[in-house]
Amino acid sequence: MSGTVAPNAVAAVSEARQWDRLMQMAKLGAIPGDGVNRGCLTELDRQARRLLISWAEGLGLAVSIDVLGNLFLRQEGTEPGLAPVLTGSHMDSQPNGGRFDGIWGVIAGLEAVQALKEAGVATKRPIEVVAWTNEEGSRFAPGCMGSMAYAGYRPPETWDAVTDNEGLTFGAELKKLLELEADLPRRGLGVVDGPAPFAYVEAHIEQGPRLEADGLDIGVVEGIQGSRWFIVEIKGKSDHAGTTPLRLRKDAVQDMLRVIAALNELTQDPDDVLRFTVGRIEVSPNSSNSVAETARFTIDLRHPDKQVLTERGDAIERVVQGALKTCTATVTERFNAAPGTFDPMVPDAVEKAAKAQGLGTLRMASGAFHDAQFMMPLCPTGMIFIPCRGGVSHHPSEYSEPGQLAAGARVLAAVLADLANR
Ligand code: GLV
Ligand code: MN
Ligand code: MN
Repeated sequence: MSGTVAPNAVAAVSEARQWDRLMQMAKLGAIPGDGVNRGCLTELDRQARRLLISWAEGLGLAVSIDVLGNLFLRQEGTEPGLAPVLTGSHMDSQPNGGRFDGIWGVIAGLEAVQALKEAGVATKRPIEVVAWTNEEGSRFAPGCMGSMAYAGYRPPETWDAVTDNEGLTFGAELKKLLELEADLPRRGLGVVDGPAPFAYVEAHIEQGPRLEADGLDIGVVEGIQGSRWFIVEIKGKSDHAGTTPLRLRKDAVQDMLRVIAALNELTQDPDDVLRFTVGRIEVSPNSSNSVAETARFTIDLRHPDKQVLTERGDAIERVVQGALKTCTATVTERFNAAPGTFDPMVPDAVEKAAKAQGLGTLRMASGAFHDAQFMMPLCPTGMIFIPCRGGVSHHPSEYSEPGQLAAGARVLAAVLADLANR
C-alpha cells in the first residue's frame, strides 16, 4: 500500500505550513537572538500545548493526556484495535534554547499526519503523535520523565518532590497542568496500563555537525549513547574571608576545584569519545567575602559503550571522596540512560524512505539523549535526523532551514505510512 499511496502523502507535506507552525511556537518563550526559553510545565508550556491541541482538533485528531502530562494526538487506523505507530518528541526547551530542539519532532509528526489525511492515505494502524513531558530536564531534573514513566522505567510519582529554581515542585506544577487540562480525556500510562506501540519514530535536529559537513539530508539514527547524571554536594563551613586563616577553613569551593580536577583525570579519554560536563554550579552563601559553606555541582557523563559508562560512572563516588581535603561530600545519581542500538526495522524504513525521495543519508548514532532511548526496550524504535547549522543546539542560534525541516517531515510521512500499514 505504502508503495503506491505514500508519494501523494509525501507531496502533501507543506514546507510553509510546518515552518509557520514552528515560528508560532517559537513566539511562546521567545528570547533574544531567535532563541526560546520554554520550561517544562510553565505557563508557556501550557500555551504551547493549547496551540498544538487547537491544530490537532482542527484536523479531527483525538487528543488525550496521561498522568505525567504526556499529550497524544491520535489519527485512527482502519483497524483501530492494532497497536499504534507512535511519533513525536518534546515541547519544552533549554533555558537558553533554540526554536527546533524537540518541538520540531512534534510539529513534524502533526505535519506528516496532516499530509497523510490530505492525500487520503488511510493506514491500518492508528498513528499517534506524542509530546513528551519534560525531556530537557533543565527546569526539573532529570530529563525524559514523561517517556521514563510511559515505559514503566520509573513510577510516575518518582519526581513529585523535585524542585525548580524557585522551589516549585514538579508534582505541584504537574497537578496544576492536569487541572487546567481537566477537559481532555485521560488515558492510561503507556505500557504500565496498556500494550506497547507497534513502533516509535522520533524526528529531531541532529544537534551535531556531521550531516551539514557531509552535505547530507537525513541522519538514519541507529542508536543513542548512554548518559548518567550526578549531583555532587560538598559541605564545608562558612567563615569570614578576611579573618579566617586558610589552614582553619573548610572551604567548599576549594574542595570542589580539587574534586573537579580529579574527575577530569578520571574522564580522560585519548579518543575524545567520553563526554564529561560540569554544567551547573551552586555555591552558598554565594558571597564574595564569605568562605563557601556548600558547593553543589552537576555531572553529565556520556559514552556509547555501556561498560565504559558503567566503570567510569561507578568510580565517581570514590574519586570525589578521595579528592576532598577538608570538607565532606555526597554523590547522588539521578539519571541513567543506557546506551542502545535500535532494532533495524525503523532505521531500515527511514533509510528506504529517504533514498526513495532522492535524499542523501548517513547512518549515525545520537550523542544527545532522547525520549526514544526509553522507547527502545518497548518496541522497534528509530529516529530521523536533519542537519542544523554549524551543529549548534541548546543555544538561540540553533537553526535548520525550512527546506531541511520539510525534507525530514516528508521522510517521516513515508515512514509512518509504511510502518502503520504493516
Ligand atoms: C538532551 O537534551 C540532551 O541533553 O542530550
Ligand atoms: Mn531534544
Ligand atoms: Mn535538548
